[in-house]
Amino acid sequence: MLIRNRPSWAIPERDATPEHVFLNRRALLAGAAALGAGTLGTAPARAWGFGSGAAPAAPDAPDPSAALYPAKANPAFKISGPVTPEKVNTDYNNFYEYGTSKHVAEAAQMLKVRPWTVKFSGLVEQPREVGIDDLLKAMTLEERLYRHRCVEAWAMQVPWTGFPVKRLVDFAKPLGSAKYMVMKTFKDPKMAPGQRSFILQWPYVEGLTMAEATNDLAFMVTGAYGKPLPKVMGAPLRLAVPWKYGFKSVKSIVEIAFTDKQPETTWAALAPEEYGFWANVNPEVPHPRWSQATEEVIGTDDRRPTVIYNGYGEQVASLYAGMPKDRLFM
Ligand code: MTE
Repeated sequence: MLIRNRPSWAIPERDATPEHVFLNRRALLAGAAALGAGTLGTAPARAWGFGSGAAPAAPDAPDPSAALYPAKANPAFKISGPVTPEKVNTDYNNFYEYGTSKHVAEAAQMLKVRPWTVKFSGLVEQPREVGIDDLLKAMTLEERLYRHRCVEAWAMQVPWTGFPVKRLVDFAKPLGSAKYMVMKTFKDPKMAPGQRSFILQWPYVEGLTMAEATNDLAFMVTGAYGKPLPKVMGAPLRLAVPWKYGFKSVKSIVEIAFTDKQPETTWAALAPEEYGFWANVNPEVPHPRWSQATEEVIGTDDRRPTVIYNGYGEQVASLYAGMPKDRLFM
């Protein structure tokens, strides 16, 4: 972690990592339930990871999709300012399946990304399961530079590789009655020690309306920095919806379901007063416990103003025309 001289207006780290506070409370409760109230006082009161002590993962076979990278850059998706260096990015992540620390890259090596199948279910013409490499063959990969803004008030700029979610929707063939696309992470506590505790309701679930999913900006990510996606970033398949807070961008997806009802999503279910279904970035709507007006640019000393829809208003504001504003930003 970089050591910075923090200006007086910067959000103290303890306030900008709300999940830790919340999760520790949850972990205490879960720990109490599992172990008996007598052990409560010994529960850890800090973020935890599995970097040391976890059995070392067996080395992986070479990634069969490696030859697909680097993919051609799509010049329509640019950013101003530099890309966050890969080393910085892969040492500052949220992947609670591997701990609530930001430094879970080592622990995430337990994630096995092959074989990997993605199931299409719910309101589809034909439910089916597809191997990730067959799915990749059916898509054309491209690179896009995206801004990435976490609800914890930090930001990065990332060169993602993948394909538009719209292409995946065409591939899945949902019925006309489908109103939402729901994406689920794997559930396997043997492969993800975090899932052995009730810090979140597993598996991690997120969802978009069909209009959001088929917007040009919604991107299914399979790689970053010109290579297959690092495990800690949610290999082999994750979402990137850059106009929303990062918790919407679910990692390591194994199932995509279509429904006609708004799904119960992980963070909204855990703390509905703090995290909602929409989660569109807006500097004027504070989180109940901290401001969203500015963001720390990870890997730099900068704290910059946050922009509505994270700067993507031109592409997405019309999706929410006529909807009650207050509900859209939580
Ligand atoms: N997906 C899963 N399965 N588990 C997680 O813990 N964290 C979310 C999101 N997707 C998370 C997840 C949060 S809070 C953020 S900010 C982003 O992933 C972080 O993505 P990054 O680590 O690539 O920056």
